[in-house]
Amino acid sequence: MIDPAAIRRQFPFLKRIVDGKPVVYLDNAATVQKPQAVLERMRRFYEEQNANVNRGMHPLAEEATIAYEEARKTVADFVGAKHPSEIIFTRNATESINLVARSFGETLKKGDTVALSLLEHHSNIIPWLQLKERKGIAIEWIGLEQDGRVDIESLRNILEKKKTKLVSVTGLSNVLGIRTPLEKIIALAHAAGAKVLVDAAQLIAHASIDVQTLDIDFLAFSGHKLYGPTGVGVLYGKRELLESMPAFLGGGDMLESVDQNGFIPAELPRKFEAGTPSIADAIGLAAAIEWTTLVCVDAIHTHTKNLLAYARKKLSTVKNISILGATSGNDLLGCISFITNGIHPHDLTEILGRKGICLRAGHHCTQILHKHLGITASARLSVGAYNTEEEIDRCIAAIEETILFFRKS
Ligand SMILES: Cc1ncc(COP(=O)(O)O)c(C=O)c1O
Repeated sequence: MIDPAAIRRQFPFLKRIVDGKPVVYLDNAATVQKPQAVLERMRRFYEEQNANVNRGMHPLAEEATIAYEEARKTVADFVGAKHPSEIIFTRNATESINLVARSFGETLKKGDTVALSLLEHHSNIIPWLQLKERKGIAIEWIGLEQDGRVDIESLRNILEKKKTKLVSVTGLSNVLGIRTPLEKIIALAHAAGAKVLVDAAQLIAHASIDVQTLDIDFLAFSGHKLYGPTGVGVLYGKRELLESMPAFLGGGDMLESVDQNGFIPAELPRKFEAGTPSIADAIGLAAAIEWTTLVCVDAIHTHTKNLLAYARKKLSTVKNISILGATSGNDLLGCISFITNGIHPHDLTEILGRKGICLRAGHHCTQILHKHLGITASARLSVGAYNTEEEIDRCIAAIEETILFFRKS
């Protein structure tokens, strides 16, 4: 069990007062707040250790390089990678997926298939549509059950055609808050000879992921949704896969040698880290991971899961609200989305926002899912380690008040 009061004291952002009251931040699926430990670590880097990595011979450059490489090791341990060189630092989950599409994707031919689910965020759709334009690959869509869970039969049918080279799926929907059955998906995909990319942008903050146990080929996530800074993301890839893939961005530090005719790429992970990386952000991400470990990762996951179940129960009693997707199950994590009869989600969240209650509204970068659900927008409530039942109560009361106001006017 975590002590929410003790956790909250570690997040300076939560001291913000809006409309005379402390802010209620329930937009954690968009980005989470950062604990003091992360802010302090990044400040210390800039104040005491700032130097470029992998280049200078002076001791401070070496110190910065050591801190950066230790951050890589922290991330590798956190996701259960066999070796730190399987961890590539990128800018965010979006860039990690683009890296795979631009590098692994180059090895695909016209007619090869990439399978995506209807749940996917645009970050896990557009890079593949771009690859379709570039190389003539095909995209197949894994359908959903009535309640929004991934339809495994639909995946089976796609894989039976024996053209699928990659199944690229989210680990947790950023709208329905439904976890995808990764074990089943990965087993089926591998049996059919396809690789699997897991977009863990949401899952990473709500469940432990062990890439070796799950036998994941590629895993992508962002630091800023895991109590870390913006500006850093992670791509995990199995070593033999990353080694066989061409470099993505070209520039300094990603090469072993170059002459007027060509270049030899550097060993992993540098092959995929052209130019000066987001050094302080990577170190900040490691500090965030250390912070979650210090608090207790499992306790954070249990807390956010219980809180979401509480929010779901409370929301389901509010008149004129329809919750999207499955209503019960052990696989519901992170966020809950809903529509309100008679109020556009933008209006609702704007009014709540003025009272200091932060929810998100819109299509949440999932236009295809929203179209499938027959709507254009929804409101989303998403939880983090520092949220409390009192905050959920305040949010629900404000939603009820707003609905009443709109019905009267
Ligand atoms: C499921 C999912 N995938 C990918 C992303 C993209 O993350 P980022 O914008 O940090 O690259 C998000 C962001 O909300 C997401 O929810």
